[in-house]
Amino acid sequence: MVLQTLRPWRRPWKPLLLTWFASSLSASEAAEATRATLEARVATLREELRAAEAALAAAEDDGTSAAPWAAGPAVCNARMRTADLSAAAEYLEKQHALRAPFYIKAARRSFQKGLKQAQGIDKSNRDPFIKQHEGQLQLLGALDLAPGSAEIWFEAAKVAVALASLTDAEGQAQHAVDMFAHACTLDPPKLKEALAWLDKKESGKSSKITQEEQFVRKLVREQIEEWGESGSVPVRHPDFLSTLKDGICFPTREYGKMASAHPKDVAKIVDGFQVRNAFPTKILSVNVRSRLPEGFTTRLADLAVRKYEQFGKKYTDIDPNDLNDKFFSFQATHADRLSRSDEKKWPEMYRDSEDFKILTRVMKGALLGFLNKTGITLPQGDQGYGLVLWAAVYPGNGGRHGYHVHQGSASSCVLYARVAGASTPISFIDPRGAPPVNDYEQYEKERDFEPQAPFHHNEYFFPTEGDLVCFPSWLVHNVPSHWETETRVAFAANLQGDGAWDSWFHTAVGWS
Ligand SMILES: *[C@@H]1O[C@H](CO)[C@@H](O)[C@H](O)[C@H]1NC(C)=O
Repeated sequence: MVLQTLRPWRRPWKPLLLTWFASSLSASEAAEATRATLEARVATLREELRAAEAALAAAEDDGTSAAPWAAGPAVCNARMRTADLSAAAEYLEKQHALRAPFYIKAARRSFQKGLKQAQGIDKSNRDPFIKQHEGQLQLLGALDLAPGSAEIWFEAAKVAVALASLTDAEGQAQHAVDMFAHACTLDPPKLKEALAWLDKKESGKSSKITQEEQFVRKLVREQIEEWGESGSVPVRHPDFLSTLKDGICFPTREYGKMASAHPKDVAKIVDGFQVRNAFPTKILSVNVRSRLPEGFTTRLADLAVRKYEQFGKKYTDIDPNDLNDKFFSFQATHADRLSRSDEKKWPEMYRDSEDFKILTRVMKGALLGFLNKTGITLPQGDQGYGLVLWAAVYPGNGGRHGYHVHQGSASSCVLYARVAGASTPISFIDPRGAPPVNDYEQYEKERDFEPQAPFHHNEYFFPTEGDLVCFPSWLVHNVPSHWETETRVAFAANLQGDGAWDSWFHTAVGWS
């Protein structure tokens, strides 16, 4: 498979582990060794251990954690797990183009807040540099998501002008000039547009542009006018965004190679660094198809689709997302404690389906297994926690599931019974850009919320049929609009605490 050849860092792990054991020191050797040779041995052992750990991680990987940097500039640094890299990359490139404008708007909001601080209207901070920095990061997020879009570069340049006006205008103006240059290189008519915009004395809502911003506009305009006269736009690689050049597509992961660049004494210190990954977020996945009865996923998907279609007939003219909510509410979600009257709601599933009984056991086991595998023991076993299980059907009419977490649950799992190729992933959001404790229900439309840059690279999991993925219930996740001819069917489950306040504590505090 092509993916194998894209993984140059992948090394056979067995030989490495063997050398590691073989090079352990014997007691007599250690006694004779000088301090210097011992230190050298320790460094070598550490290096080998690191390589062995990396090789082990690669060996445990089933090959679907693709190497996205092979897939082109807009997605080369995307975090994703897919069995079909080119389809996933094509999908993500479109997603990224849709996401980019949000970050332009976010940067403008940062500017507005910074301006209020600078003007003393907002007294939270007299110095607007934090808002300026926040805005700059959001602009970089936009450019990172749509590096080939002249429009995004152009809009980013405009906001960069405003942001520059908050502090140190002269130093910052050059960045805006570089962005205009890049936009004009991608799309030459933008030059005229830029000059016209720089001339304006009022902004969109006919509010006056500040004197500071007028000053930046003038600085920028002076340079851009020269391009018009000479008829050529200078080629500028914006050096404040080095990651947007070749560097963003990290070709391999190289560990521990920096030390030689330091003087000897510093190198020793650097070499001695212990690495800890703080605040981990663990996502577990496995494909269940080969381990369960033939046709398991197909039969469950068929049952869910049939019910969903019947159910939908009762509600014509309803938004697909509202229908999904209604379908959720209709279901008897406490799957391992169903009463007779629950069974009557959906007898084909709840009463007659052997597959559903298996599904119930698998999901309960997976939710507990997720905790167990990541080192968590629930104080009272699984007493006090109950299974919640439901089917989610996305017929391909734009249905989606907005950003959310599962309050009150410890772990969450999803089993994919039907998918539409490498499209409509589940996105797990980097908690550094989307705090778990936040009200995501306030964001009604699909593009009302995006995680804050530079923590805007979601973990995209493109499921294949039979994939089971588990994650902590506090991890913000969403399913983007599903526009496909193929229906997507997932069974989602939570391990929900009966009145427990500390459901999130197990993995939030317990993982290290
Ligand atoms: C996980 O389950 C095994 C088997 O029941 C048990 O021995 C082990 O202690 C569990 N680990 C945790 C962290 O609960």
